[in-house]
Amino acid sequence: MTYSGKVVIVTGASSGIGAATAELFAKQDANIRAKVVLVGRNEANLTATEAACKAANSSAELLIIKADITLDADRIINTAIEKFGKLDVLVNNAGILAGGNILDIDVEQFDQIMHFQYTFVPILSLNVAPYFLKTDP
Ligand SMILES: NC(=O)c1ccc[n+]([C@@H]2O[C@H](COP(=O)([O-])OP(=O)(O)OC[C@H]3O[C@@H](n4cnc5c(N)ncnc54)[C@H](OP(=O)(O)O)[C@@H]3O)[C@@H](O)[C@H]2O)c1
Repeated sequence: MTYSGKVVIVTGASSGIGAATAELFAKQDANIRAKVVLVGRNEANLTATEAACKAANSSAELLIIKADITLDADRIINTAIEKFGKLDVLVNNAGILAGGNILDIDVEQFDQIMHFQYTFVPILSLNVAPYFLKTDP
């Protein structure tokens, strides 16, 4: 399967798995411009991911959206549509990681992680889905 020419949103593109994923999409095909939307709250890190994507494929079209997915789902989608006119892929990767011993679990932190995963992650998917259907009914 090729993602060439597809418009891909990667949330949590400012570090770790999301940054590596964005870079992989950017270098899919040097002949057809990959279009990758980099979403996260840390602008400096997003800029570093943008540079890594450009290094991987200088013709990649990149859009940084500094945004919090718990607050800015509509803005993320509208800004991406304004720039690229369509959406094909959402890598809904942003998340909260917690380490440590399960016996020391902090209930408030557990609640925050679950709320993020079961509310804001699906909300973004639900808001993006109609644009996917427009692109590929
Ligand atoms: N690494 C693992 O072993 C592992 C295991 C299981 C699941 N996961 C999941 O895989 C995903 C990526 O993990 P990772 O290891 O790459 O972790 P990471 O480096 O901590 O990345 C998390 C990303 O989520 C973004 N993020 C967090 N809250 C956000 C918010 N409210 N709005 C927008 N972006 C937000 C962060 O960006 P900003 O800080 O810039 O906003 C960051 O880029 C996470 O969802 C994590 O839960 C990872």
